[in-house]
Amino acid sequence: MAKSKTSTVFFCQSCGYESAKWMGQCPGCKSWNTFVEETISKSAYKNAGSGGISASASGRQAKPVPAVLSEVTVREEDKLTTGIGELDRVLGGGIVQGSLTLVGGDPGIGKSTLLLQVCRNLSGSGHKVLYISGEESPAQIKMRADRIGEFSSQMYLLCETSLDEIAEVIRSQKPEAVVIDSIQTMYNENVSAAPGSVSQVRESTGILLQLAKGLGVSILIVGHVTKEGTVAGPRVLEHMVDTVLYFEGDRHASYRILRGVKNRFGSTNEIGVFEMQEQGLQEVINASEYMLDGRPENASGSVVACTMEGTRPLLVEIQALVCHSNFGIPRRQTIGTDFNRVNLLMAVLEKRSGVQLASCDAYVNITGGLKLSEPAIDLGIVIAVLSSFKNCALSPKLVAFGEVGLCGEVRAVSMARQRVAEAEKLGFDTCILPYVCAQECRKNSQSGKIKIIGVRTVQDVMGSLF
Ligand code: TYD
Ligand code: MG
Repeated sequence: MAKSKTSTVFFCQSCGYESAKWMGQCPGCKSWNTFVEETISKSAYKNAGSGGISASASGRQAKPVPAVLSEVTVREEDKLTTGIGELDRVLGGGIVQGSLTLVGGDPGIGKSTLLLQVCRNLSGSGHKVLYISGEESPAQIKMRADRIGEFSSQMYLLCETSLDEIAEVIRSQKPEAVVIDSIQTMYNENVSAAPGSVSQVRESTGILLQLAKGLGVSILIVGHVTKEGTVAGPRVLEHMVDTVLYFEGDRHASYRILRGVKNRFGSTNEIGVFEMQEQGLQEVINASEYMLDGRPENASGSVVACTMEGTRPLLVEIQALVCHSNFGIPRRQTIGTDFNRVNLLMAVLEKRSGVQLASCDAYVNITGGLKLSEPAIDLGIVIAVLSSFKNCALSPKLVAFGEVGLCGEVRAVSMARQRVAEAEKLGFDTCILPYVCAQECRKNSQSGKIKIIGVRTVQDVMGSLF
C-alpha cells in the first residue's frame, strides 16, 4: 500500500467537531476543553467524509443508473426479519440488506445481549451471521449465549479489533449480517489516534460503510454513549449510518426502551419495549399493562394518562403529592417530566380555578422511570395535583389526556382515537379528554362502553371530577 500522507487536526471528543486549531470551547456543542489533537491520514478523509460510498474502494465500477427509480428494484426479501417483533417494528420491518445500523446506549443496558439474540434468530433461520467482539473473549460470549439459548452452526464468532483483519474476514466469509461490538474498540492502522477517539471511530465506520454498501452485508454497530471522557460518543457517527437506534431505560428497572432516532428505511417514531430477564431480553407486547402494574388502589394523587410513543399509545401512571409547605418558598420537584411545565400548570390552576397552591410543596412523578415530554400529559398532571390537593381518590378506571394552555383551556391533541381505543382495550371506563376531540372519539368507540367526557377548561375538569 502506498504510504499515505498524514496531517493533524483537532476534534471535539464529545460531538466530533473538527478544527485546524485548538479551541477552548467547541462551537458545535459548546462544551469546554474537549479538543484533542489527532493525526489522521489522507485515506481516512477519503473513507470518512460524509459517509460516501466510493465504487473504487469497494471494487465495483462506477456506473450511473437512470433517475427513473423504477429501474432500481426494492424487494421485501431484502429485509432480514430478526424474529424480535419489537425490534423489527423499530427498524421498519427488518434489517435492510447492505445497511449500517448503529445501536447506542449506556454501558450495561443490554446492547450486546440484544444483538446476540438477533444473531441467534438470524442464524436460526438460515442466514450466515458473524458476531465480532472487541470487548469479550469467546468464553465470555459463550457464557452470555448460554443464558439466551441454543445457537445454530450458521453463526460465527470473531474476537478481533483490527479493522483490516475484520474487513478481510468479511470479504472472504461473505456473511449476510455482521455485528461489531463495539465501534469504540476497533482500530485502523492508518490512523495513529487511540481506539475510541473521534478520528478512529469515524475512519472505522467509513470502512464498515464501504463494506456494507459494496458487499451488501448488513452491519450492526454497537456504540457506547459516554457523557464525558476521551471516548468519542457515537453521535459523530449518526450522519454516516442509515439507522440509529438508542437503547434507553433505567438500569435499575428491568424494562428497556429501544428508540429509533434516525431511519432511512422507516419511521423514527417507533419504540420497542423490552424487559431484561434471566434468559436475555424479552419483548413486552402489552406495554401499557406493564407500565400500570402495581398501581395503588384508592390513593389520592394517582391518575392514568395516555401518551403517544410514536404511533403507539402508552398508558402511564402520573402521581402527585401536594402538601403544606413549611418554608416561605414552596418546594417543587418532578421525576420523569419537565419541572418548568409542572410549575406552569400549577400556576394555571391557581389563577384559573382558584386552588390555593402557592403555599404547598408539590412532587410529581411519572412511574416506571419513563421520561415524558408530550404536552398531552398536562391534563393528567393537573388532575393528579388536584386529586392530591383535595385528598380525593379518583376512580381507578379513569384515564385523562389533553394539553392545558395558559388560559386554562384544554386543547386538542393528536391521535385521540387511538388513545381512547388503548384505554378501552385495557378496561378503562371513563376518559377525560379535550372537548374538540370528544365527538369524534364517541363515534369511533369500539364497544361504546367507555364514557367520554369532553372538557373545555380546567374548571370543567374540576366540575366533573371533584
Ligand atoms: P450487556 O448486554 O452486556 O450490556 P451492554 O452490551 O449494553 O453493555 O448486559 C446488560 C446487563 O444485563 C448485564 O448487566 C447483565 C444483564 N443480563 C441479564 O440480566 N440477563 C441475561 O440473560 C443477560 C445475558 C444479561
Ligand atoms: Mg456490551
